Amino acid sequence: METKKIFQIRKSVRSYTGKVTDEQIQEVLFAAQAAPVGMAKYDTIHLTVIKDRALLDEIDQAAAKFFGDPSKHPLYGAPVLIVVSTQLDAQGNNNVHYANAAMIIHNMALAAIDLGLGSVDIYGAVAALNQNPALVAKLNLPDGFVPVGATAFGETTETFEEREIPMNRIATDVIG
Ligand SMILES: Cc1cc2nc3c(=O)[nH]c(=O)nc-3n(C[C@H](O)[C@H](O)[C@H](O)COP(=O)(O)O)c2cc1C
Repeated sequence: METKKIFQIRKSVRSYTGKVTDEQIQEVLFAAQAAPVGMAKYDTIHLTVIKDRALLDEIDQAAAKFFGDPSKHPLYGAPVLIVVSTQLDAQGNNNVHYANAAMIIHNMALAAIDLGLGSVDIYGAVAALNQNPALVAKLNLPDGFVPVGATAFGETTETFEEREIPMNRIATDVIG
């Protein structure tokens, strides 16, 4: 798909139907592997593909409770969640680590849209997940890795029209 068009049709999708094929997951993972990573330190990042419905529901419910409304579904019933985990710096210099995760997550979102799937960035539920060590343990992460964000994706009945993007919604200064 043409780059400008994908920017115009991209949106967060919060209703999902059906499944995702393993081939589609591989395409999304290819986009993750192609993402830029600070100083090419790929070994500071770990991806976890969660397709297991019971674990997805556990994360969804833990997040809903954390946000104070167990009737909500912060994972929106998506059939797949790919969690991006990273090693964090003990001194708190984590801007590159968080940026790496965001680059990977956004690449995956664009790939999902290119496949005709819906996707949404999931950071709130990941923050909630981090409050629950027993649930984090179910991700079987290597030692020292912390989940920092995720993308959820899957089939949707939503449609993707080209959207008007206002050029003033992010304040922009030009100097010189
Ligand atoms: C860093 C980041 C974190 C986000 N976390 C969540 C989230 O936890 N849950 C959610 O539903 N959407 C999340 N979003 C999606 C934003 O709410 C969404 O991008 C924004 O409202 C603009 O809408 P659009 O993506 O449809 O253009 C997140 C987006 C970003 C960039």
